Amino acid sequence: MNQNVYVLARDVKIVLNNGENMTELTQVYKCNVCGNIVEVVHSGVGQLVCCNQPMNLLKEFSHAEEKQEKHVPFIKEKINEQHYVVQIGEVEHPMEEKHYIEWVEVIADDQVYKKFLKPGEKPIAEFKLPSKPKNKLVFREYCNLHGLWKLELDV
Ligand SMILES: [Fe+2]
Repeated sequence: MNQNVYVLARDVKIVLNNGENMTELTQVYKCNVCGNIVEVVHSGVGQLVCCNQPMNLLKEFSHAEEKQEKHVPFIKEKINEQHYVVQIGEVEHPMEEKHYIEWVEVIADDQVYKKFLKPGEKPIAEFKLPSKPKNKLVFREYCNLHGLWKLELDV
């Protein structure tokens, strides 16, 4: 197979392989060897490769997979249609060195806002959108042990 390889970062590259793999905007991929995580900001034909193996597309878990309500983003306060306080989750998620929420984001139409968190901080993010969202809002968060979770909110 004829492959074109593009190096994106030190250990992350994209391998073009006849359209078998297609990335999509905002997909999140993780390398199970070194732990690198990347989010797609430009979709393309190819497979993301890190440490000489394909990166894994992270599944977005939602309420269907949740039992303890500690991971799905929870709207703690909706100040107005553009201003949200989001907590992870309905029962506050731990923020310990070994187990914490790394980031929370909101995808609003063609805009993405992300808040990075550290152990010891509250698992809370506040988002003020510059304009009213036209479609649904998608809130996502990443737990270093339990992966990627999302809440879709109709507006
Ligand atoms: Fe967790």
